[in-house]
Amino acid sequence: MLANVSNPYRSFIAGVTTKVAINDGSLTTYINFDNAATTPPFVSVVNRIVDFSQWYSSIHRGTGYKSKVSSEIYDNSRKAVLDFVGGTWGKDCVIYVKNTTEAINKLSNMFKEIYGTGVILSTFMEHHSNDLPWRNKFHVDYVNIDHYGKLDLEDLEKKLKIYNGRVRLVTVTGASNVTGYKNPVYEIARLAHKYGAKIFVDGAQLIPHCSFDMKEHSSPEHIDYLAFSAHKMYAPFGIGVLIGHSSTFGQCSPDYKGGGTIDMVTHDFIKWAKLPDKEEAGTPNVMGVVALLESINILSSIGMEFIDRYEKSLADYAYGRLSELTDIELYDFHKWPNDRVSIIPFNIKGIHHSQTARILSDEGGIGVRNGCFCAQPYVQKLLNISDEEIEERKKGNMKNLPGFVRLSFGLYNTYEEIDKMVKMLSKIINNKEHYIKEYPLDS
Ligand code: ALA
Repeated sequence: MLANVSNPYRSFIAGVTTKVAINDGSLTTYINFDNAATTPPFVSVVNRIVDFSQWYSSIHRGTGYKSKVSSEIYDNSRKAVLDFVGGTWGKDCVIYVKNTTEAINKLSNMFKEIYGTGVILSTFMEHHSNDLPWRNKFHVDYVNIDHYGKLDLEDLEKKLKIYNGRVRLVTVTGASNVTGYKNPVYEIARLAHKYGAKIFVDGAQLIPHCSFDMKEHSSPEHIDYLAFSAHKMYAPFGIGVLIGHSSTFGQCSPDYKGGGTIDMVTHDFIKWAKLPDKEEAGTPNVMGVVALLESINILSSIGMEFIDRYEKSLADYAYGRLSELTDIELYDFHKWPNDRVSIIPFNIKGIHHSQTARILSDEGGIGVRNGCFCAQPYVQKLLNISDEEIEERKKGNMKNLPGFVRLSFGLYNTYEEIDKMVKMLSKIINNKEHYIKEYPLDS
């Protein structure tokens, strides 16, 4: 047992001492094991927002002193973002968006405008956001997964060969939000480039948890496009990032058109503004950028390698403790400890994932997510859901869908929190009949 190892970074996080009501009438300190969905803010991010509010003003639209300060912070931020992920200043463009979902929708619109037709290779392990935006624009095919839910690279190469130069993009998650698997993105980049395709990495679950390098443009391992969300990296103020070749982005007309996107317009003429302005219609989210910059500073000062190691140790510890319990289904998703971010999907035998998640919350003050995590095709495959059941579900019966309970850790979680959760799970397992009756499923 590693209990009582303190975590100095807890004090960096807003809300770690918040108490919530539980069913026995008492208050308990909230435990958040749902960091893959969103993280709480860094205290310093909140403070920075408050401090900056003294200077907040319109970006690129005013001549006042405060406008100049705000615009400078906003414009200079792009270099810091590129440095954080190894982008190339002068070749890569940082476009601010709301979140990763918006980034992928934007990229798909750009690809449609540039290429018109062709094939997009997505995979079986994607979040819906890295699948649906491509569907109405291109022929989309999905790279298979193996028995353990890991990406099948042989299938990737097979498909790249079959499509024979027609694959425009291999669009792949950096780390799965269901199993935590990290994909070998540099190997995937090599393969994509070998067959004339580009690579996009959905970094939503990766960038907050480990260091990342897009690599030189001349490298066969170069990551052409990358997106991530600040709300998953302790800066939840509505900002996300899309990074990619300025030469590609420069070819497109803006998908959102309006204020800030033009150099000149008459009723019969438009000259679009240069990048990145033409892609950021409307008043920019400078508060979001201030938050993101502060988060990058804090994450860098803690060290992404340290965060990676610490979060993995939490996951290994949790996995070990869960393995001690009877009736816990852990599947085989944790067989590659070095190849993952700290996400653990599980179930308690005989209890639906929605019941387990409700009991953890209502009886233990522990926040997790359950279900399919916006990755239904992946979960259907991982759980071997039959074609017959899927066909039945398509008719509209959405009750009690199969899925998992998911633990996802952040840099501030502790071994003690895991011990508390394991105690709660043990209580549930030992009193199954009672809890099943207390927390009935939808009938
Ligand atoms: N995609 C986020 C999750 O996995 C929201 O919870």
